Amino acid sequence: MDRRIEIIQGDITTLHVDAIVNAANSSLLGGGGVDGAIHSAAGPQLLEECRTLHGCETGEAKITKGYNLPAAYVIHTVGPIWHGGNNNEDKLLARCYKNGLHLAEQHRVTSIAFPSISTGVYGFPVERASRIALLEMHEHLQHAQSVQKIIAVCFSPHDFGIYQTAVKEFDKN
Ligand code: APR
Repeated sequence: MDRRIEIIQGDITTLHVDAIVNAANSSLLGGGGVDGAIHSAAGPQLLEECRTLHGCETGEAKITKGYNLPAAYVIHTVGPIWHGGNNNEDKLLARCYKNGLHLAEQHRVTSIAFPSISTGVYGFPVERASRIALLEMHEHLQHAQSVQKIIAVCFSPHDFGIYQTAVKEFDKN
């Protein structure tokens, strides 16, 4: 696995990186989980800016300032809701990472942190999601322009263990 990818356990809202990624819903008007944590840490101006974006399609990504967050930017993306795996969920989740990283490049972001998109409220199995996430991160770094550091932030020890296993599996193959 590309050495510029780091797996950590923690709270994404505390990270001093150029951009953090939000696992939003299509309204972009806030919610629970990491979306709720990011909005409460960023402050009300984040929602004000989000209102101007008129929502976001699943798999797409949009960028705002970070306001009271240590991060300069928030890249909002909408992951797929898990419906058993035969509704293009894998592809759509991969698109969240691809489009988030593409948007980061467009804004000359050098360091970016991702939560485990779709694996909370949206029910995507974290074992499966972690492999998709890490593969997209690795592939992006093989042709990255400005992105030099990607952090996969796991909120729970359980998820942290699953991501670490996924890295070991990647390195074995
Ligand atoms: N830092 C990092 N990760 C976090 C944090 C945090 N502060 N809070 C939660 N997480 C983790 C969850 O533990 C989970 O692993 O983010 C991952 C994604 O879970 P959700 O936040 O539930 O996001 P998702 O599954 O993509 O569902 C999106 O939930 O909050 C609503 O508005 C959001 O409707 C949207 C839906």
